[in-house]
Amino acid sequence: MQPGLPTETHPLRGDERRREVAQRRVEELRDLINTHDYRYYVLDSPEVTDAEYDALVRELRGLETEFPELVIPDSPTQRVGGRPSVLFAPVPHQVPMLSLDNAFSAEELAAWASRVERRVRSSPECVCELKIDGLAVSITYENGVLVQAATRGDGQVGEDITANVRTLRSVPMRLRGKELPRVLEVRGEIYLPVKAFERLNQELTQRGERPFANPRNAAAGSLRQKNPAVTASRPLRLWCYGLGFAEGVTFSRHSESLDYLKRLELPVNPAVKQVRTLKQAQSFCAHWQEHRHDVDYEIDGVVVKVDALELQRELGETSRAPRWAIAFKFPPEERTTRVKDIAVNTGRTGRVTPFAVLEPVRVSGATVTYATLHNEEEVHRRDVREGDTVIVRRAGDVIPEVVGPVLSKRPPDTRPWRFPKKCPSCGTKLVREEGEADWRCPNRVGCPSQAIEWLFHFASRGAMDIEHLGYITGTQLLERGQVKDPADVFFLTAEELGQLPNFGEKSVHNLLSAIEAARHRPLWRLLVGLNIRHVGPFAARLLTQAFPSMDALRQASLDELQGVQGVGPRIAQSLHTWLQQPENVRLIEKLRRAGVQLREEAPARRPTTRGRLSGRTVVITGELESMSREEATHAAEAAGARVTSSVSKSTSFVVVGKDPGATKYDKARALGIETVDEREFLRRLGERPTVH
Ligand code: IVH
Repeated sequence: MQPGLPTETHPLRGDERRREVAQRRVEELRDLINTHDYRYYVLDSPEVTDAEYDALVRELRGLETEFPELVIPDSPTQRVGGRPSVLFAPVPHQVPMLSLDNAFSAEELAAWASRVERRVRSSPECVCELKIDGLAVSITYENGVLVQAATRGDGQVGEDITANVRTLRSVPMRLRGKELPRVLEVRGEIYLPVKAFERLNQELTQRGERPFANPRNAAAGSLRQKNPAVTASRPLRLWCYGLGFAEGVTFSRHSESLDYLKRLELPVNPAVKQVRTLKQAQSFCAHWQEHRHDVDYEIDGVVVKVDALELQRELGETSRAPRWAIAFKFPPEERTTRVKDIAVNTGRTGRVTPFAVLEPVRVSGATVTYATLHNEEEVHRRDVREGDTVIVRRAGDVIPEVVGPVLSKRPPDTRPWRFPKKCPSCGTKLVREEGEADWRCPNRVGCPSQAIEWLFHFASRGAMDIEHLGYITGTQLLERGQVKDPADVFFLTAEELGQLPNFGEKSVHNLLSAIEAARHRPLWRLLVGLNIRHVGPFAARLLTQAFPSMDALRQASLDELQGVQGVGPRIAQSLHTWLQQPENVRLIEKLRRAGVQLREEAPARRPTTRGRLSGRTVVITGELESMSREEATHAAEAAGARVTSSVSKSTSFVVVGKDPGATKYDKARALGIETVDEREFLRRLGERPTVH
């Protein structure tokens, strides 16, 4: 029996009365819970303790169990699994979700302001907002009820993530204001607070799973879950920053629409400032650049928007970004710390990379303990030594890197660092090929470091996506000899897994189900997992589209592989050689015996790149995360671009990856040529960035 409900002597009348009372209490509880959610998530000023809140939810659940007819889809208890899922189905955006142009300095912001002034012949009032580094989302309410949530996708078509977004308690399932329009599409950014990100990574590491690189990737990974219950377990939040399609409300200023969203009790970031002059905008940017870590979420800049909607219309937009807004991007953050040690690591392809072990230091909201030193030449060029105080930089997604030593702080007894001659993992003599910057460990089959890195790559989200097969489990399987190569994973039995330390029945079941699911992954994922040099997800999809089975790929001649548009000679050569090597033929046969799908069931989604960059001249500098430089070049060329190696006035834009060449970057800035990051490059190619 529920607290507070009267009992009656007359059975029928009593039941009816109890139901009525229950109904009233249920409504009251829902309203209370929604109010507490609002106070907690939007106003950031909770009125009750967690225990009191939980008691309300428990009471509501109890009543809904007793009176199932009182359950409604937008009850706070129905956030998970409220309706059949159409997760990730395409959702066309009624109003395209555009991107923003960037300004990397106060001068570039000034140049944008002058362009605006020239066009509208006045100096318009603007609104400055924080640029939240999360995931863009569009949430549609019809008559106040949340009916759909979608990702940005390519800006024209997103993916349905309604079931997952419903699990966010900072997102109301029903709007509560008095001025509800018929349709309201709210746009904003979903993010994971930094503390929650750190907690999540700790949990993942403890479970032997790979931590996320940063809060944005963690938010993306959490939202892209096929199981909304997992999303529900991640404390994702929302900041709304604008409207998409709306019917039944109109505004004359952007700031009015933000106030309206606030009145509807939607979360709108409080750091919004209306400015009248460029100087005010610049000082808002400077302030937040200085104070970016004062808030518990990542921001990567400031967005400045012309406030009057009439002027926004007059300014219009290009195909990718509005002219009435600009993103002022914060420069990469730099900190100094001490190098405790310089070590090398042998990666999955045998490449040996030097890295610095640092005195832990917080950079861009994350604690950095290791930073890459790229390769031997770089260590020597920068002359980084053990014991040095160094400048460490972290920009966006990229791995932290050591910029260089602070020579004035160098202790007297340091010595230049020498690259080891042998692999730190297996002791094999390292080799360096003519014209290559990297040392490699040639012991492909017997090197433990290559084996674990390969296994981990094989199981990763970007390849075969075998959940629960993380570093710890992988290392144990390799050390016990239960797995020698990734194909062995598919022969693992419950008995064998049950012998692993701390592996209970549930872990065994979870891992076996994940392995079973991986047997049916698209062929391009397998190709990526096989760890073939230069073959990343982009080329793999093009290749498996042209040759939709492993046998077809193996039978293809070098010429035929090269003939696939977007696949260059180095990629084709590398794949061709790999497919002919006897140990690889054996590996493929083993995968076949294991029942792994070796043909494309549905045609791979062809990256729709054709013509998207035609007439554009592109320079790529630095390493990209989701594709090799080879792939990036061919992808750009396949999209119609001319890819050149140096920056000139005719360069359309420069793609800046990890560790960009300083000359190219500086020249682009000097000539005022647009620089874009990997994410933006993929967007321009029409690709969706791979979520890691
Ligand atoms: S306005 C048409 N405001 O930044 C303009 N975007 O690089 C639409 N973002 O895709 C964007 N904070 O996901 C706007 N306060 C803010 C933002 C913001 C973060 C994201 C947004 C957009 C990306 C563009």
